[in-house]
Amino acid sequence: MDNELQNYCIEHSKRPSSLAKELETYTRAAIPGSQMLIGEMEASLLTLLIHSIGAKRILELGTFTGYSALCMAEQLPHDGELITIDINTGTTAIAQTYWDKSPHGKKIKAVLTPGTDYLPTLQGNFDLIFIDADKVNYPFYLTWAREHLTESGLIVVDNTLWSGKVLQKNPDAHTKAIQEANAMVASWDDFVTSLLPVRDGMMLVKRKRK
Ligand SMILES: C[S@@+](CC[C@H](N)C(=O)[O-])C[C@H]1O[C@@H](n2cnc3c(N)ncnc32)[C@H](O)[C@@H]1O
Repeated sequence: MDNELQNYCIEHSKRPSSLAKELETYTRAAIPGSQMLIGEMEASLLTLLIHSIGAKRILELGTFTGYSALCMAEQLPHDGELITIDINTGTTAIAQTYWDKSPHGKKIKAVLTPGTDYLPTLQGNFDLIFIDADKVNYPFYLTWAREHLTESGLIVVDNTLWSGKVLQKNPDAHTKAIQEANAMVASWDDFVTSLLPVRDGMMLVKRKRK
């Protein structure tokens, strides 16, 4: 989609707070890898999904500078909780400085541990599990998420098109893991799935009604 049309979509969607915008602007200007941010289009879709399912407890894999965590926390009720996992102390520290400025920041708990180490220790189920961390572990994260989703919960997986590389016949390790994860989810008979061509691909995964 061209930028003008994309901006039109964003302008006609629910947008994150001015603090989230400030964090986005700062990250794009100052932090290497800033293209990893979900941006306003994905944030608005996550916003709609959070309200659709009445999410109270969210798990995020991949904090970066805390933009997506802040956007999602803004949509949670006052007693909602968001746990976000990353391994980068520098970007997580930046995230914390922005969350501390927000009335919603107290809902966010940052964990600095590799996802594959932390998830096996994590108790309870989540209404929304947003997977946006290391791609090689997407199959692991999805397998864990399937077992830790509330009845009406939703899994959202980012970068499921991987700049179109999912079509490659001789993929690198990251692409191969995303291909495997996409195929695995599509084969889950007790779930419904939609891989949306939003930004770099957003896969929505939900348990079928009983
Ligand atoms: C795409 S960025 C997350 C962007 C963020 N969700 C946003 O939109 O604001 C991916 C993050 O995953 C983190 N990451 C990489 N390997 C990880 C691992 N093994 N466990 C947890 N996080 C990891 C990286 O440090 C990076 O910050």
